[in-house]
Amino acid sequence: MNRYLDDDFAPVPEELTALDLDITGTLPDHLDGRYLRIGPNPAIDPGESYHWFLGEGMVHGVRLEEGRARWYRNRWVRPRSGDFAPNTNVLSHAGRTMALVEAGSPPYELDEELDTLGRCGFAGDLRAGYTAHPHEDPATGELHAISYSWTRGNRVDYSVLGADGRLRHQAEVEVHGSPMMHDCALTEHYVVLYDLPVTFDVDMALGDVPRPARPAVRFVLNRIIGRNPAPDRIVDLMARGQGAPTQLPYSWNADYPARIGLLPREASSVAGPAPVRWFDIDPCFVFHTLNAFEDPDTGEVVIDVVRHDKMFATRFDGPDEGPASLVRFTLDLTSGKAREHRYDEHAQEFPRCDERRTGRRHRYGYSVGFTGERLGDSILKHDTVAGTTQERRLGAGRGAGEFVFVPNSPDSLTDPEDAGVLMGYVLDRSSGLSDLVVLDAATLEDVATVHLPGRVPAGFHGNWAPT
Ligand SMILES: [Fe+2]
Repeated sequence: MNRYLDDDFAPVPEELTALDLDITGTLPDHLDGRYLRIGPNPAIDPGESYHWFLGEGMVHGVRLEEGRARWYRNRWVRPRSGDFAPNTNVLSHAGRTMALVEAGSPPYELDEELDTLGRCGFAGDLRAGYTAHPHEDPATGELHAISYSWTRGNRVDYSVLGADGRLRHQAEVEVHGSPMMHDCALTEHYVVLYDLPVTFDVDMALGDVPRPARPAVRFVLNRIIGRNPAPDRIVDLMARGQGAPTQLPYSWNADYPARIGLLPREASSVAGPAPVRWFDIDPCFVFHTLNAFEDPDTGEVVIDVVRHDKMFATRFDGPDEGPASLVRFTLDLTSGKAREHRYDEHAQEFPRCDERRTGRRHRYGYSVGFTGERLGDSILKHDTVAGTTQERRLGAGRGAGEFVFVPNSPDSLTDPEDAGVLMGYVLDRSSGLSDLVVLDAATLEDVATVHLPGRVPAGFHGNWAPT
């Protein structure tokens, strides 16, 4: 059986609603909002060739208020015919809840109780879909994003979504070819791009094209891909076969350079592609940023990410090319060189920080530690100043997905940086049920556990959506 349909990954068959959930411990009174997390949950059996990234999205949410867990709901995202059901991130911005995915598909808006309302209003203004990983500037409330799609040739799109939820700025950025660009980072003056060697794979993509059209499509794509935008006729042909895509047409490309780019914020592409300064790094792949900032003492740009040595090189049903590690890239703007520092030996993913510090200097970061191939078995806390890592193991038979930091005093940055809680779903394999686990971010000790009536399969990203 495909491993992404089995075990911790097995989809759940139904949508549940449960009110007034049981809690162990004491939920802090100030937590007033929803914890939301999304992941793939195929509605019908997608078959053996299923890629984990291609399952229809399902959101799992818990409403917390006045020390109570008011409800749990899990809901499929229900897009209009022909659209993909976003499955990668769910967040609230400008008063709306958005389900997000990358690579050309539009974002969808959900209501407070996670039912699908429709495409987000700004979707029609996007050149080619959005991203699952926009970054909110805490000073302005604006979302900065880099979006990619194979249809755009060697261009990706920078966009700024205003605090009012409207698209305020877009610019084209030239990259080397046609890379997968899952995330970006934000600093005070720059958007950080990862132009890395996982790129659009023509032969994989042809699997979804009607057979008689494949030779012509292959010929055209091989001539243009990574250089020019794809002609509408070819995009239509590809889309025709992609009612239910079975492959993610991106793979490791050893001939492609690995580099990190600094794009000035607000850069324009009115007179040609927006200017980017590039820094070469060793071949690797990055899905996720922990945070980035400009160091005022050195003038360098510092970027903390989880680094994979390779991706989609030997396994094509999910991200499964061995352990990933937390590293710091430091870009020296004077010499034009990048340095790389590895923090520790832990295999990990899903890095987060106190996102009120996005683009500003952070001390602490949090991630999920993995020793097996399934869900994570520990929560890690990194002290980037002391260079230490604290590990909270979750216990035998218990597996965690991403944990998010929620500050104790939402408006105060004067508290210690780790004054807050971490929350995320933990699956207990013996009961087959999940909990929403709330940990003290300072100590990683239990604060409260909300017991859910169902299982939350291994998935992608979540966020706290305050009321
Ligand atoms: Fe992601």
